[in-house]
Amino acid sequence: MDLKPETIEKIDKLVPRYPTVKSAALPLCHLVQEDQGYLSNEAIEWIATRLDLQPINILEIVTFYPMLRQEPTGKYHVRVCRTLPCALAGAYQTCKKLEEAFDCKVGHTSDDGEVTLEFVECHADCGKAPVVMVGEEEYTNVTPETAEEFATKLKNGQL
Ligand code: FES
Repeated sequence: MDLKPETIEKIDKLVPRYPTVKSAALPLCHLVQEDQGYLSNEAIEWIATRLDLQPINILEIVTFYPMLRQEPTGKYHVRVCRTLPCALAGAYQTCKKLEEAFDCKVGHTSDDGEVTLEFVECHADCGKAPVVMVGEEEYTNVTPETAEEFATKLKNGQL
């Protein structure tokens, strides 16, 4: 697996800072995902070898944390905040509408590779809930009622 030299450098600095190699596994997953965009089986094996662990030890972490991905992200990386204020404002129903509009289950990428739909935790804009991120752009008040229109605009490049 080809990691950027700066990622290797960060990993080499990070690992000795942890009292046990196991505790370095999660930050390493983040660094490798940042570099590769997602954590392939090859990446999981690479991390395991680097930490002298078994691939299953890394896979357990990757499947536990929703922010770690085993698939590449689509052209649009859509993340719906699901923390309490957004949930109370209808974020789960918004997400359901987006699943239908994008024909894509949350936690996955659509078959055409256009959209990856995920949940995310609070983005500190709770007063304008529900909040949806597309890449690093934040969109507020994406309610179940406006979600379909939001999805159409996104697909048509009108956001
Ligand atoms: S709970 Fe969604 S932005 Fe804070």
